[in-house]
Amino acid sequence: MNTRWNERSMSFHFITTVISVLCGPRMLQAMDILTPAQVLKDGDTIISSGGDFVLGFFTPGNSKNRYVGIWYNKIKGRTVVWVANRETPLTNTSGTFKLIETGFLAVIDGSNRVVWSTNSSKTVQNPVAQLLDTGNLVVKDSDYLGPENFLWQSFEHPTDHLLPGMKLGWNFTTRREVYLSSWKSYDDPSTGDHTIHCDPSGYPQLTIKKGDALQFRSGAWNGEGFSGVPNLRKNTIYSFEVVMKENEIYYHYELLHHSVISRYTLNESGVGQRWTWVDETHGWVIYLTSPTDSCDTYGFCGVHGSCNIANSPPCGCLDRFVPKDPIGWERTDWSKGCVRRTPLNCSKGDVFFKYSGFKLPDTRGSLFNVSMNLEECGAFCLKNCSCMAYTSLDISKGGSGCLLWFGELVDIRVVPGGESIYIRMASSEIDSKGMKLILVMVILALVGGMIMLGLSLMLYFKKTRKTDHLAAHRRSVSASKQKDEYHDRELELPIFDLNSLTKATDNFSIQNKIGEGGFGPVYKGLLENGKEIAVKCLSQTSLQGVDEFKNEASCITKLQHRNLVRLLGCCSHGEENMLVYEYMTNKSLDLILFDPLKNSVLDWPKRFHVINGIARGLLYLHQDSRLTIIHRDLKASNILLDSDMNPKISDFGIARSFGGNETAAKTRRVIGTYGYMSPEYAIDGLFSVKSDVFSFGVLALEILTGMSNRGFTHTDHNLNLLGHAWTLYKEGRSLELVDPCLTESFNLNEMLRTIHVSLLCVQQNPKDRPSMSAVISMLSSGGFFPSPKQPGFFTEREVLAAQSSTRTNSVISANELTITLMEAR
Ligand SMILES: *[C@@H]1O[C@H](CO)[C@@H](O)[C@H](O)[C@H]1NC(C)=O
Ligand SMILES: *[C@@H]1O[C@H](CO)[C@@H](O)[C@H](O)[C@H]1NC(C)=O
Ligand SMILES: *[C@@H]1O[C@H](CO)[C@@H](O)[C@H](O)[C@H]1NC(C)=O
Repeated sequence: MNTRWNERSMSFHFITTVISVLCGPRMLQAMDILTPAQVLKDGDTIISSGGDFVLGFFTPGNSKNRYVGIWYNKIKGRTVVWVANRETPLTNTSGTFKLIETGFLAVIDGSNRVVWSTNSSKTVQNPVAQLLDTGNLVVKDSDYLGPENFLWQSFEHPTDHLLPGMKLGWNFTTRREVYLSSWKSYDDPSTGDHTIHCDPSGYPQLTIKKGDALQFRSGAWNGEGFSGVPNLRKNTIYSFEVVMKENEIYYHYELLHHSVISRYTLNESGVGQRWTWVDETHGWVIYLTSPTDSCDTYGFCGVHGSCNIANSPPCGCLDRFVPKDPIGWERTDWSKGCVRRTPLNCSKGDVFFKYSGFKLPDTRGSLFNVSMNLEECGAFCLKNCSCMAYTSLDISKGGSGCLLWFGELVDIRVVPGGESIYIRMASSEIDSKGMKLILVMVILALVGGMIMLGLSLMLYFKKTRKTDHLAAHRRSVSASKQKDEYHDRELELPIFDLNSLTKATDNFSIQNKIGEGGFGPVYKGLLENGKEIAVKCLSQTSLQGVDEFKNEASCITKLQHRNLVRLLGCCSHGEENMLVYEYMTNKSLDLILFDPLKNSVLDWPKRFHVINGIARGLLYLHQDSRLTIIHRDLKASNILLDSDMNPKISDFGIARSFGGNETAAKTRRVIGTYGYMSPEYAIDGLFSVKSDVFSFGVLALEILTGMSNRGFTHTDHNLNLLGHAWTLYKEGRSLELVDPCLTESFNLNEMLRTIHVSLLCVQQNPKDRPSMSAVISMLSSGGFFPSPKQPGFFTEREVLAAQSSTRTNSVISANELTITLMEAR
C-alpha cells in the first residue's frame, strides 16, 4: 500500500512540477513545502528534501480511520513517527491537510469541518510549512530572513517518538513541557496511558508514568548516563546528554553517522525502546529497553529496600537495615520496606557508610550543588540532621558536585557498574561492623581448617586406594563432625538409604528414567517429603565409571554455587552406588536449544542469563572455590535448567582439581566431547582453565545461534560453527549468527558482546583466551575488548587431522557424546 502511495505521490509530484512550470505558481513548488495556496488531499504526500521522511494520510494496523502523519520514506513498512489528528481521526478519504493563511496547520474533513489544528501565538502574512529532513514539520514566516525561528514545529508536539534532535524536557520561559505519550494500541494512535518525561525536580532524571503514577525512573543524570540504565552508554550509534540551562532542561540524542537510522519510542505497555534499523532482512531491532525487569518497577522493594534481580526473591534490605514488617517481608510483601537496625541519634553524632554498586534512590526532592566536592558535601550533610544521604553529582570528571537526599531513600537496585552513595547511620554501627568482621574471619578460619582436614583425609584415603571413597568421605565428615558439630553443615553429605530411593523412583522403573549419564542411568524420584530428586546410578556393567563416579562425588561435595547442580546426598549399598541431586524441571539445555519446536522458549534475555550463569559457575570452579577445578566436559547437555531457566553446570565425572599454584596438567587419556575440546587438549592432552574457557566459547556461540557446533553444516563452505562465526565477524556481519527466532527479543549490544567474547574464548592459543573473570566483566559491561585472533579448530578437517595425527582411537562411551581418545600403546 505504502509503495503504491509513494509511486503515486512521485508521479503526482512529477505531474504537478510539470504543470507548475507550465501554468505558473498556483501549484506545488517543491516536494517538501506546503503553502496556503495548496491543499494536500488524501493520497498526496510531502517528502523532505533529502527524501528521509514523508508526510501523508495513513491508516494504522486494522483500523479503518485515516490520520495525517509522518513516517520514514526510505524504509520498508510504514514506521509512523508523528501523528497530527491522533484524537480526531477522519472516517473516510475525503479529508485534506492545509496551511491556513495566518500560519495554522489544519486537518479538514469532507464536510469542511476543522478536526485538528495547530495554534501559535503569532500570525504572519506569508507562512510556509516545510517537512525537514530531520522529520520535523515546521511552520515559518517566508518573509523572515533571520536565524531559524519557527512559528510552530512538530518536534515540540511529539506523539510517541523521540527523534534525533528533539528535546525531551522543559522550557521554563514558556513553561511548556515536551514529553512523549504512548499510542493507545497498535491500531489506535490516540493518547494512551503512558508518558515519558525528563523530570527536572531535584536532579534531572527520565521518568515513565502511567497516568500520574511513577512506574520507572532512569536514576539521576550523572554526566555520563543514568545510574539506573547501565546499558545506556557511550556507543557507536548515537550520543546523548541532559542539557541544563537557566531556562531549559532537556534530554536529547544525536546520531553519529548519517547512514544509521535510530529512534526512541514509548510503547503501549509503557516500555521505552531504542530501535535501530539493521537492513531489509532484520528490519528494526531493539537496541535497548527500559524498564527491563521487576527491579525497575518504581519502589519495588519499598523504602530502603534494595532490589537485586540475581536473587530470588529479588528484594532485600540495604546493609544495616532490617525489614520493617518481617512477617509481611517473609510473605514477599515488600511494601513496608526496611528500617535502620540501629535508630539514628543525631545528637550523639551519626556517621555515613558507603554503599557501592547501586542505582541511586529517587532524586525528586533532593538538593544539589555543582561547586562542592565530595568532602564538603559530606560535611554539609552531616551538619543537617535531616540530610540522609549524599554523593557526587557528576561522575564524568572523576566526581564533582554534591547531591543530597532528605528523607527516605526509595527505588534502589543493584546494577552492574552502579554508583556509590553515603548513607547516614548511627555511630554505634561502627563497632558492630568491626565485631562482625572478626566473627566472619573466625568462621572462615574454622571452615578453612576443616576443609584442610577433609582434604588431607581424602588424600590419605586416595593414597591407600583400598577404602571405598564414599565411606572415606563419610568418615572424614564424621571426624570433622566430632571436632566441630556446629560449623560443618556445609560439608556434610547426607546418606540416603536404598529403600527410600527405591520407593522414590518407583523401584527404578523405566517410566522414571530421565537419562543415561556417562556411568549409568539417571532416574527421577519423589521423596516422601515431596521433594523431587534425580538419582544417578553407577551401573555395575559400566567399565568406565567407578573412578569418575567417585571423582564426581568428591568434587561436588566441596562445591556450592547457584550455577552448579546441587548434590543432596549419596547412597552406597553393596555394589550399588548412587548420587542424589536436586531435580531440574527443564532438563538439559541441549534438549531445548537444539529443538526447533522448543527453542523459542529461550528468548534472548533468558539465553543471556544462561550464558552469564554458566560463566559465573565456571569462574567459581576456576578461581573462587578453594581449589582450581577444571571441568573438562562443558557442553550443552551438561548444563541443566531449573524451573526459572537458571543454568546449573553438572557432570563432574572427569573434572580435575588442583591445589596450590598448579593450574595445568597433561594427560595420556583425553576425555571430553568432540566439538567442545580445545586444540591443545585434543591434540596434546594439555588441559588448563583455558581449555574450559574454549568450551565455554563454543557453548556461548551455540546458545546465541541455536546451532550445535558438532552438527553445523553450511551450503557455502565446510567450516564448522566457529569458522562460520569467525568469517562473518571478519566481514562485519556477526549479527547474521543470531538465532532467527530471537528477533522479538533482539538486543544488539548484548548479542555483539556475546559474539565477540565467544570468539576471544575459542582462540587457538590458550594464552590469548581471557580468564572467566574477564569474560564476565566483558559480558556485563563492555570494558576493554581486544580483537580476537583466528579460532582453533575452525574447520571440520582440522579436527579430523588432529585426531589422526595423535594416532588415537576413539571410544564412544555410553553417553554417546562424550568420547574418549586414548593413546595407542
Ligand atoms: C523557550 O521558549 C521561548 C519562547 O518560545 C523561546 O524563545 C526559547 O528559544 C525556548 N527555549 C528553548 C531552549 O527552546
Ligand atoms: C512493549 O515492549 C516490551 C519490551 O520490548 C514488550 O514486552 C511488550 O510486549 C511491548 N508492548 C506492546 C503492546 O507491544
Ligand atoms: C536541613 O535541610 C533542610 C532542607 O534543605 C532545611 O529545610 C532545614 O532547614 C535544614 N536544617 C538545618 C538545621 O539546617
